[in-house]
Amino acid sequence: MQLAKVTLLIGSPRKNGSTAVLAREAERGLKEQGIETETIFLNDQEIKGCQACYYCKKNDVAACAVKDDMQGVHQLMQECDGLIVATPIYFAGVSAQTKLWLDRMFPYIGMNLSPKLPGSMKVSFIFTQNQPDARLFETSITTFMQMVGFTGLTRKDYLVAYDLDSGVKPPVTDNLEFMDRAYRMGRDLLT
Ligand SMILES: Cc1cc2nc3c(=O)[nH]c(=O)nc-3n(C[C@H](O)[C@H](O)[C@H](O)COP(=O)(O)O)c2cc1C
Repeated sequence: MQLAKVTLLIGSPRKNGSTAVLAREAERGLKEQGIETETIFLNDQEIKGCQACYYCKKNDVAACAVKDDMQGVHQLMQECDGLIVATPIYFAGVSAQTKLWLDRMFPYIGMNLSPKLPGSMKVSFIFTQNQPDARLFETSITTFMQMVGFTGLTRKDYLVAYDLDSGVKPPVTDNLEFMDRAYRMGRDLLT
């Protein structure tokens, strides 16, 4: 029997920042369920912004005409059963690396907004921010998750981990609630 597979997309450039640490906790939960994982640091990928060529729309295909590292990410979208998207908040929204990924998910949204990914594919989100008020960026966080949902992915869970500034404030590993929520997010993603 083929193992279920989940892709973790990390939108922080820091390999050991709060976002990556929480994503690894989610990965621990996934692996404990016998789920295969693949982690992509979006910052390591050569991903151009969407060129608005409308190749995907004119041809009504879930494929992109821009040949760069996003092709590999698209391949993973075909193979995996779920997704964890983890991003820091930069200037009240997701990081530029994460926004590039979202724009390039355009092929999964048909002209009439019909989703092209199967609803059986689950997605959960981890957001990290410095500000201590978890609700401060609620509008942009909610909008981001809705836009991802337009692709057809079904949202399972999300975590806003706040009051975090790697190397300046206490490490996220000290916050047992955030660590546990991230672990459970992974453990329960495909249940
Ligand atoms: C360019 C930049 C912009 C940021 N903007 C915000 C912001 O608008 N609101 C906020 O709460 N934190 C902001 N932060 C702080 C980060 O979101 C926060 O420290 C996050 O946990 C960093 O994640 P990392 O440790 O995985 O890199 C910003 C950080 C950077 C580098």
